[in-house]
Amino acid sequence: MKILLAQSAGFCFGVRRATTMAFEAAESRDRICSLGPIIHSPQLVEKLEEKGVRVLRQVEEITGGTVIIRSHGVTSQELDALGERDVEIVDATCPFVKKAQEHADLLSSEGYTVVLVGEKDHPEVQGIVSYARQGDVYVVADPEDAVALPRCSRMGIVAQTTQSIENLRTIVDICLEKCKELRIYNTICDATSVRQNEARSIARQADVMLVIGGFNSANTNRLARICRDIQPRTHHIETAGQIESQWFDGAKTVGITAGASTPRWIIDEVVKRVQA
Ligand code: F3S
Repeated sequence: MKILLAQSAGFCFGVRRATTMAFEAAESRDRICSLGPIIHSPQLVEKLEEKGVRVLRQVEEITGGTVIIRSHGVTSQELDALGERDVEIVDATCPFVKKAQEHADLLSSEGYTVVLVGEKDHPEVQGIVSYARQGDVYVVADPEDAVALPRCSRMGIVAQTTQSIENLRTIVDICLEKCKELRIYNTICDATSVRQNEARSIARQADVMLVIGGFNSANTNRLARICRDIQPRTHHIETAGQIESQWFDGAKTVGITAGASTPRWIIDEVVKRVQA
């Protein structure tokens, strides 16, 4: 059986940076926590917990020590509230997510109705939206949401970094007819499109496709959807232990890719299990 492993599988720049910052902080500090999980990988979060990094959900729970801001950022209100506390902040927000937050801030301060293309419940989206402090802001997940937008004179679009370019393009098209002036910031991260394009190409060649990553990871779920559209025999797994041998019945080629928050050791274990 041939295995096609995506070169882009695993940590992106922002996740690698956040993870390194978290492990370094854990080495040098005693009281340390993260506000929400650092990245969407339960297995990596567990490793950090072993090093003493607790995951806290609310600013109110943090009473001192050091707090790490996760790769996809927090809301401006949370950051302000942390600033008022006696805590040291290690900001591991990915610089590309920061850019999207800055664009939302700029657009709203310049009087644009802000449209964020993304998933309403995702922490990155909630973070970006919080920076649009003035005027109206809408989160639009799909073309139907865009159709439902009210008309306005000036509209500014920002995207969740892990969105697909196709979704952004379709929504931009609909928004063109919703306003007189449209400003677009393409804040989709290159790492996402490179990973998605490679996944498409591998899924076309594979009889079975494995997508590795947290079930709570938006980019992994999207990757699994993209692969499933091309190859219905696509399985989304978090660890090698979830692989079932009957998935590979009659398969000659197995494709493997992984989300941006999937640690290398998990990918290696999956490859080994498939080879076995
Ligand atoms: Fe940053 Fe792009 Fe990764 S936005 S966290 S480098 S997917």
